[in-house]
Amino acid sequence: MQYSSQFCSIYIILFIKNVLVGFGDHLQNLRIVTMWIFSCIGKLFFVVVTLSALVIGFLNSDASTPLFQYLDQYETERGHRFLGICPAFHTGKTWGFTHEDLARLDLTGQTIFVTGANVGLGYWTAHHLANTGAHVILGCRSKRKCDAAVDSIRKATGKDSSVTGMVVDLGDFSSVRAFAEQFSQEYSELDSLVLNAGIMVPPFSLTVDGIESQIAVNHFGHFLLAELMMPLLLKAAKKRGVATVVSVSSSASFGSYPEGILPTLEEMNNKDRYQRKLAYGQSKLANVLFAQELAERYKDQNILVNSCHPGAVRTELGRHMMESVTNEHVKAVIQSSFEYVFGKIAWKPEDAALTQLYAAVSPELKKAKITGKYFHPIARQIQPDPHARNMSLQKSLWKLSEEATALK
Ligand SMILES: NC(=O)c1ccc[n+]([C@@H]2O[C@H](COP(=O)([O-])OP(=O)(O)OC[C@H]3O[C@@H](n4cnc5c(N)ncnc54)[C@H](OP(=O)(O)O)[C@@H]3O)[C@@H](O)[C@H]2O)c1
Repeated sequence: MQYSSQFCSIYIILFIKNVLVGFGDHLQNLRIVTMWIFSCIGKLFFVVVTLSALVIGFLNSDASTPLFQYLDQYETERGHRFLGICPAFHTGKTWGFTHEDLARLDLTGQTIFVTGANVGLGYWTAHHLANTGAHVILGCRSKRKCDAAVDSIRKATGKDSSVTGMVVDLGDFSSVRAFAEQFSQEYSELDSLVLNAGIMVPPFSLTVDGIESQIAVNHFGHFLLAELMMPLLLKAAKKRGVATVVSVSSSASFGSYPEGILPTLEEMNNKDRYQRKLAYGQSKLANVLFAQELAERYKDQNILVNSCHPGAVRTELGRHMMESVTNEHVKAVIQSSFEYVFGKIAWKPEDAALTQLYAAVSPELKKAKITGKYFHPIARQIQPDPHARNMSLQKSLWKLSEEATALK
């Protein structure tokens, strides 16, 4: 009995020792694995930091100029879609319109309307125009935002009485009609109409008129607005010899659906067919096709209509881009990294607005009666996407737009 209890004690002690030694082995293994992971992370971090420093250093040095100049001229199978897209790509190229050109203008007595003017490119377009002495009307979908933008431009320019705001929601045809009615009561002519408002890559939704939101806001709303404002544009053209319409498009017009423009409202409104990026491209291609057709229809009456891509610009346009990322932390990291990089490479809106300002008020453009053309930054004329040279697509879009907006 005595021997058996001694044996049991020794056995238990050995068991505990083995367990502890095994556990120690495990701990040792765990320590080795943890150190290995940390050393890998350390090396990876070192590689990422070194590579980023090299890339940033290269991009900020003169050595990158040939690369940017190559990209500026790079011809994709659909054309020169990168031309002038960032300031770096533009290095060494003449600006087709400058702040000095703007400063020389005196547009006192002229009336100009800009859509989507409470922020971004529209705001800066209105801001610069206010300095020319023109009467500038800011179109916004919210009265509160409109008042704030008007206030800010008045303060910055000192042009209190010649800057005003009006509410119009381009995603609602009844709002566009009500706006046009009110505008015609307040103003007897319109020298320039800048169709600038836009939305980019939102999730699928239909407007109150039952049309997919990107094509509805970016194209159909502007189509209806331009048609309703035509009598006032014609009056200004008669009085001063010329009036202008600017359709603010995008290089995204080079990336639409394979058909360019989907042929029916049913297809545009088909949620299964909807792809955010292609639908944005479609709406921006529609901006180009619409400008060309309007130019053709009114060229004998001195209404000059052109479209443009303002470049990659630091604005609020990307607000829908992160909606598919659900994790808030991941979203915050991606967003701040994107904003940092975009902030470094993109145009400032006060500069990028010059391309649409050129199409709206340039004396050279008016004198040469340039119409139906497409421009990239800064005011450089280029060939649009091949779909934009398809005349039957241009005519069928016009017909579809008349039907959608119940103009015919
Ligand atoms: N930024 C770029 O890199 C870039 C590149 C190529 C082309 N573009 C084009 O440039 C134009 C201006 O864009 P942005 O960059 O200045 O963008 P932004 O800062 O987002 O401004 C867009 C403007 O459009 C207005 N808007 C949106 N939906 C509207 C509606 N239903 N009715 C009336 N107004 C509406 C917005 O009003 P809220 O403030 O109320 O939303 C805002 O005032 C757009 O047509 C865009 O496609 C921009």
